[in-house]
Amino acid sequence: MVDEPLLGRTSSHPVELPECDWADPPEALSLPPDRVDLWKLPLTESEAALHRLERTLAPDERARAERFRFDRDRRRFIVAHGRLRMILARYLGVDPQALVFSNGPRGKPFFAPPLQAALKFNLSHSGNLALVAVTLNRDIGVDLEEIHSFESAELLAEQFFSPLENATLRALPEAERLKAFFCCWSLKEAYVKATGDGLARATDSFDVAFGRGELGRLVSVEGDLEEASRWSLVRLTPAPGYVAALAVEGSGWTMMCWRLVGSSRLPALNSG
Ligand SMILES: CC(C)(COP(=O)(O)OP(=O)(O)OC[C@H]1O[C@@H](n2cnc3c(N)ncnc32)[C@H](O)[C@@H]1OP(=O)(O)O)[C@@H](O)C(=O)NCCC(=O)NCCS
Repeated sequence: MVDEPLLGRTSSHPVELPECDWADPPEALSLPPDRVDLWKLPLTESEAALHRLERTLAPDERARAERFRFDRDRRRFIVAHGRLRMILARYLGVDPQALVFSNGPRGKPFFAPPLQAALKFNLSHSGNLALVAVTLNRDIGVDLEEIHSFESAELLAEQFFSPLENATLRALPEAERLKAFFCCWSLKEAYVKATGDGLARATDSFDVAFGRGELGRLVSVEGDLEEASRWSLVRLTPAPGYVAALAVEGSGWTMMCWRLVGSSRLPALNSG
């Protein structure tokens, strides 16, 4: 369960975040109720793998890929979206290119009817890494952030974090603040991605807990504790130099963490 998570250790050191126990995925995937699968994938691929993944994309995804100014970003987009298709297709037992997506009013992708409405997913990418979260019948959001130093972190926190979050941040020793900033940011983004609101939601209208010893928690949403209690938030360290967070509707779920390594387990395509 999320309180005793499959996140491996809950470190006794206050600065370290819980780590996932990343395992190779089994050949046959099943997704029981009340389980969240979190996938970690590198966004670097060989030329051959890139082409295979690109062939699984829908025309609108290919068009988006072509709009990137830098080739590196185009390649990352193709890998993230091709891999997302590959992962989801394995749960559904269909070809990756057969998946049809639709977007919510703020752009959150879901399966277009009549495909599996019960299978919920969310994607996040940052730097050379992506995370995909998958579950059944629960709204879900994931956010991944590569930690990098920048001068305006304090100003951004003042602008986008709630007073409670700013107080938490300021209470931490200087050396811990940058990582804590990204932890807070990823928890907040995971939540607004789970609801589908994205950054259209005022980010200072809700509070997350991310201080020392906190696994992550939604404290209140515009003062509404009941709404906050409808969600479980967990913060993670998916790789050195990155932080991430998951927001999942309800509680009582367990998590499995799967890793894909570059060029591995590409789908056998039937066509294209
Ligand atoms: C969703 C959002 C918070 C993502 O922020 P980010 O940190 O830059 O990006 P991440 O890598 O974590 O997530 C991006 C992925 O989340 C998914 N996503 C997009 N919009 C989403 C939303 N509203 N809710 C949840 N997930 C969303 C997509 O899979 C997207 O991947 P893509 O950009 O490669 O297509 C931000 O882009 C946002 O607020 N978008 C909404 C904009 C809006 O209001 N649009 C209205 C008109 S469509």
